[in-house]
Amino acid sequence: MSHQRKKLVDLAKRLLNHNLNGSTDQADEIMIKSVNDYTNNNIIRSEVNKIFYDHPVPIALSAELKKNNSYKAYTVIDTPLLITRDENGVVRTFINICKHRGAPVCPEGSGKKSRFNCTYHGWMYDNKGSLVNIFKSNTFGDIDIKNIKLTELFCEEKSGFIWTCLNPDINYDLSKWMNGFDSELDDIDLKNWYIFKSTTLNGPRWKICWDGYLDGYHHHMVHPETVGKNTIVNLIAHDTYGPHQRFAFGLKNINELAEIDEEDWEPENHIRLIHSVFPNGSISAIQNQHCLVSIVFPTPDLQGTTTTQYILCLNEPKTKEQIKDAEDFAELSRAAIVDEDYPMNFKIQDFIDSKANKEFLFGRNEPIQQHYHKWVDKLSSK
Ligand code: FES
Ligand SMILES: [Fe+2]
Repeated sequence: MSHQRKKLVDLAKRLLNHNLNGSTDQADEIMIKSVNDYTNNNIIRSEVNKIFYDHPVPIALSAELKKNNSYKAYTVIDTPLLITRDENGVVRTFINICKHRGAPVCPEGSGKKSRFNCTYHGWMYDNKGSLVNIFKSNTFGDIDIKNIKLTELFCEEKSGFIWTCLNPDINYDLSKWMNGFDSELDDIDLKNWYIFKSTTLNGPRWKICWDGYLDGYHHHMVHPETVGKNTIVNLIAHDTYGPHQRFAFGLKNINELAEIDEEDWEPENHIRLIHSVFPNGSISAIQNQHCLVSIVFPTPDLQGTTTTQYILCLNEPKTKEQIKDAEDFAELSRAAIVDEDYPMNFKIQDFIDSKANKEFLFGRNEPIQQHYHKWVDKLSSK
């Protein structure tokens, strides 16, 4: 049995047993979380600094910069990034700010380009961050351009993502940080998927938003006509890899497996598998050769989030039917987040200062959020 099949069969077995017994994977106890942790700007600011700046975070998909000499420029929290792939395929990330007087070097966007003319006075940098030309250098004065480089950030490409530390003083051991989760991600082979569409969404504050991505207890109420149509609510198989998490939900046809010989199982048709990269990446809904990847960052004022939502297909859809399938999947993913999850999360946010609650509760049946909050607390040393 292939490694991938064994993994899916094992997960399906766990979910089938849970469903037959009316049980689910559980945490040891109920977690009580202070609402202050969601509302106090000092706490949030310090957590964001420690978690999003001092640890590697996924900032882009390898598939976005497929070709050599391609780039992407966009802003993460309050740091403008220039991500480049050089002529040898090596990926680097720089802060997209010129060494002359602080203007953005490259306008936000993506494409193929290996040299970047600063948007203010036209100093030119290559895709390794080196300054290669000063406009009218004969009049500028005596300066050694070899010593001038864009500020480079820790950057590594792994498991289909480009990872960066937003704090330039940090150089991280990414393999150690992954805790084996990279080999789980490698099974998806994300770098070879085709990006059908990507959109940017405005969402609620970071932790309210991310709680939603980790929730297996709300499908019946919030998603009755979308994802909840197929998944059984409150039926979770949950595994952790350091801060990262893999969880699976049972589909409504899971009990059919009890009637089929295990060697004839097609477990991928009975479970839904989600990989959650700490603190802000989700790969979900892999079904019929489509998948949804979301990368979420706080906005600079920390009062909201910006989500980049990618719809990927295993292969580029070419026929009318394949394109329609991809469109339908994109619409389902959009609706579940934009029409269902985020409006619920915004309502929580709108009334979070109402003094109704000093505490929120995470039940034993909510081990995924519990694990997330434990790691948030651990890394921000609360
Ligand atoms: S600020 Fe970039 S060239 Fe002047
Ligand atoms: Fe949801």
